[in-house]
This record gives sequence, structure tokens and C-alpha cells, in this order.
Amino acid sequence: MAKRIQFARTGGPEVLEFVEVAPTEPGPGEVTVKNQAVGLNFIDIYFRTGLYPAPGLPSGLGTEGAGTVEAVGEGVEHLAVGDRVAYAQGPLGAYAELHTLPAEKVVALPDDIDCETAAASMLKGLTVQYLLRQTYPLQGGETILFHAAAGGVGSIACQWARALGVKLIGTVSSPEKAALAEKNGAWATIDYTREDVVERVRELTGGEMCDVVYDSVGKDTWELSLDCLKKRGLMVSFGNASGPVEGVNIGILNQKGSLYVTRPSLNGYADTRERLESMAIDLFDMLQSGQVTIDIAQRYPLAEAGKAQEALQGRRTTGSTILIP
Ligand SMILES: NC(=O)c1ccc[n+]([C@@H]2O[C@H](COP(=O)([O-])OP(=O)(O)OC[C@H]3O[C@@H](n4cnc5c(N)ncnc54)[C@H](OP(=O)(O)O)[C@@H]3O)[C@@H](O)[C@H]2O)c1
Repeated sequence: MAKRIQFARTGGPEVLEFVEVAPTEPGPGEVTVKNQAVGLNFIDIYFRTGLYPAPGLPSGLGTEGAGTVEAVGEGVEHLAVGDRVAYAQGPLGAYAELHTLPAEKVVALPDDIDCETAAASMLKGLTVQYLLRQTYPLQGGETILFHAAAGGVGSIACQWARALGVKLIGTVSSPEKAALAEKNGAWATIDYTREDVVERVRELTGGEMCDVVYDSVGKDTWELSLDCLKKRGLMVSFGNASGPVEGVNIGILNQKGSLYVTRPSLNGYADTRERLESMAIDLFDMLQSGQVTIDIAQRYPLAEAGKAQEALQGRRTTGSTILIP
């Protein structure tokens, strides 16, 4: 038997149950990973609350983890029992001691990247990879606005932007979070709970505004984000921390300066084995070179996943959070 977190109905953190289940044998093309660490992500909260529907209930939760391969299904060639691996995609169920998933979603870890770092950075780091290198291929010299700059994705984005020579203006909700984002390489920060973001961006950029806005806050920031863009700038709406953006009048993109908008996801970018591998190499290079370091600011036992989610949702975390099975 193996322990996992599951939920039989959607709702608050109280719907999460810590249960014992019979482990699933890997089928053809699958592997079972014995997790050493599990990554906590905002998307887990969207599934728990029902904003994103789980394929069926009861359901496991989580898509990010790292550990060792425990069993290998028929036809799997790139992995063997005992390999150290990490993953950030696939079926819900990473909040578990053992997780069975398609082997094509699993990558081998270089020796110098430990499992906790990998679990804290696969989903968030691959996301930053596609946001900064693919959704808008930053060359250096651009000015970008990145919301929630002291969070899991934000902390990696600050460091990666600095490495690219990009001026990242990060929004945060407290002086402590501002200091953290700046330590990570944010060129400037704005406390969006106290300051007028659009006016501050205007001052900081000498009226030029931003080439790209990366907005994972959603509902609360959608409109101000559009106002922070240059003409023909790109709005990247990639999350819903404050709720989903709804009822958009497409004409607003014309009114605010012939803007572009995209709503990307990791699964839309790491959609083939080849693309996942090349994105993972890029992320591992950034970690191995020390240009990006992963701040695991919170660790919780797996059994306390609900408590960990409450902290993430309550804006009480910084950097990455992991769950230890
Ligand atoms: N599309 C994709 O491929 C993709 C992949 C990964 C993550 N994401 C998105 O990226 C975002 C960051 O994910 P994460 O796991 O790294 O989380 P996180 O940034 O560590 O935590 C979310 C942060 O959002 C900010 N926030 C603003 N308004 C909020 C509200 N009403 N409720 C809660 N938080 C609020 C908070 O920072 P302040 O206190 O500083 O405001 C909070 O710390 C999430 O929206 C997630 O869905 C998208």
C-alpha cells in the first residue's frame, strides 16, 4: 500500500484526504516514480476548487515531483529502475508516495540536481522557460512587467530575466516580497496593493511602457496590465490567482494600442518529447550554471498538503513550496 492525497468533491482544503491505496502497476509506456519530493503549484488549487475540472472523482492531485524510478512498463526505453527523475506534466496524482505516469513526461535528472530542487522547479522553471524564451523570445534590453514576482514562478523569472539582460519590473504585495524579488534580479518592484501600477510603470520607463506583461494574477490585474503595455505590446495572461479573466471585449486591444494577447500553458509548449527535453535542458543549464537558484522557502509533510495550499492561496508563501512524502 502507498499513501496519497485525494479529493472526492471539490472545495476548500478540507476536501483533501490523506489515504492509503494499492499502487498502480505501470502499463505499457508508463513508469512508477517513488517521489522524494512533490512540487506545490497554484494549478493544484484550481483543480481542488473545481475551477479546472478533474477528469473524475475521487481524484489524485498534483503534477510535479521528483524521485527514483520504482517500476518500468513495457516498451519504455529511456528510463530504468533506480534512475533519478523529475516530471511536471501528466495525470493528476503527484501528491503521493508513488505516482504512475507516461514515461514520455518524465526526464532523467543530472547528477548535480537534487530531487528537492527538481520538484521545486520543474513545473515553475519550464513555465519560465517557455514564457521568456518562446512565448516572447526575449533578446535582452526589453522591459517587462511580471506579476507576483516573489512567488514560485516569479522568483525564477526574476533570475532568468536578469541573466538575459531584461529589465523586469515585478509586482508584489509587501516590502519583504519586494526585497526578495530585487535580490533575485528584478530591476524594479511595485507594491500593487499600495501603489498605482500604471503610473509607476510610466515613471520607471520614462513613458515608454513595457514590451511584454506576464500576468498570472488574472481577474484583478487584467485591465491595468493592458495599460502597462507599449503600442503593439504582448499581454501574456497565464494564470488565475485572483480568479479567471472573463467577459473580455476584444475591442479593448484596439483601444489600448493594437495589443497582442495570448493565454499559454505548459502543456501547450512541452507537447512533444522533443520539446520537453529541449526545454528541460535549457532549465537544467540555468540551474547548473548558477544563473537560477531555487529558493525552497516552505516544506510540508505530504499529509499537510491542505495547510500548504492554504498558505499558497493566502499569499503567505514566497519562492517554491514542496511536500515531502
Ligand atoms: N499557464 C501556465 O503554464 C502556468 C504554469 C505555472 C504557473 N502558472 C500560474 O502562475 C501563477 C504562479 O504560480 P505559483 O504556483 O508560482 O504561485 P505563487 O506565485 O507562488 O503564488 C501566487 C501569488 O500570486 C499573488 N496573488 C495576487 N493576487 C492573489 C490572490 N487574490 N490570491 C492569491 N494569490 C494572489 C500572490 O503574490 P503577492 O502576495 O505578491 O501578490 C501569491 O503569492 C499562478 O497563477 C499559476 O496558475 C501558470
